[in-house]
Amino acid sequence: MSQIGTVAVVGAGTMGAQIASLVALSGRTVKLWDGSDAALAAGIERAEREIFSALGERRELPVSEIASGLGRLTAVGSMSEAVAGTDMVIEAVREELGVKQAVFSELSRLTPAILGTNSSSIPTSLIAPAVKGPERLLNMHFFAPIWVRSMLELMSCGQTSDDVMETAYDFGVSLGLVTARVNGESKGFIINRIWRAVKRESLAVVDQGVASPEDVDRLWMMFFQTQYAPFGIMDMVGLDVVSDIETSYQFVSQDPTDTPSPTLARLIAAGTLGEKTGSGFYEHPNPKYLDPDFLQGEE
Ligand SMILES: NC(=O)c1ccc[n+]([C@@H]2O[C@H](COP(=O)([O-])OP(=O)(O)OC[C@H]3O[C@@H](n4cnc5c(N)ncnc54)[C@H](O)[C@@H]3O)[C@@H](O)[C@H]2O)c1
Repeated sequence: MSQIGTVAVVGAGTMGAQIASLVALSGRTVKLWDGSDAALAAGIERAEREIFSALGERRELPVSEIASGLGRLTAVGSMSEAVAGTDMVIEAVREELGVKQAVFSELSRLTPAILGTNSSSIPTSLIAPAVKGPERLLNMHFFAPIWVRSMLELMSCGQTSDDVMETAYDFGVSLGLVTARVNGESKGFIINRIWRAVKRESLAVVDQGVASPEDVDRLWMMFFQTQYAPFGIMDMVGLDVVSDIETSYQFVSQDPTDTPSPTLARLIAAGTLGEKTGSGFYEHPNPKYLDPDFLQGEE
């Protein structure tokens, strides 16, 4: 186990519950807190369910380990109670810079612990000015679902100490996560930045009439020997979410060529957002890329 013994997770939504359950199962004590009592109650229930589902996903946990994992996870009623005696705080509250700055400003006054944010897009360099002791602040980007996408990206705030980066790295490895350091500051960290380039180019190929979404996916599936291909994945993520992410990149770059794809805009305007609406690049719930004959192409 790394030097991290007790961990506070702040924010008990989708990600907070998953992170808390993973950390509790690694043998550490976890205190979970949320600004909303209702969200905290729902979050602790979800975290407990996650611990049970880990049994199914990993098929390697004896009942006694599940019980002790559950015993190490507690919901607490305040931020100060959550952080008391912890070595590390992992924040997973709403993705809004002002909210994160306020939370970290308070956290940094309450505890000398390492402070990590699970933000998907906010670099900690923007949070650091609000933090007392920014040498212990860093991005710790986990992925959902945590039992499947078992990976972690770590990024410095520009002032993070080497010691803190190394401790966080050892912590990630001790959780069984594929852990990677982001060198320098990178919007999209590592994998989301690369995935964004794939989405952008796949959409451009379709926008320019070079190929159909199905043909792009077929070639991808065969080339990379996978059933997961760009347009199928975009349907899973939600086309509105894909478009919002593109807009956020354009906001930073101010580059007109970063304008979200017209094909995407047309589908969104028609209310076809992918799996969640039953239609997107494919019809759901049984998209044709899952058909055994899909790779054969159209007659
Ligand atoms: N959902 C994902 O797939 C995913 C993946 C990677 C990273 N993230 C990041 O994780 C973070 C959380 O995302 P989520 O999907 O779990 O969100 P969510 O909306 O499910 O949960 C956020 C929780 O934060 C709580 N909260 C909001 N403001 C608060 C405050 N000031 N103090 C305390 N609690 C507060 C809310 O009550 C809510 O329970 C975001 O930064 C997001 O970018 C999400």
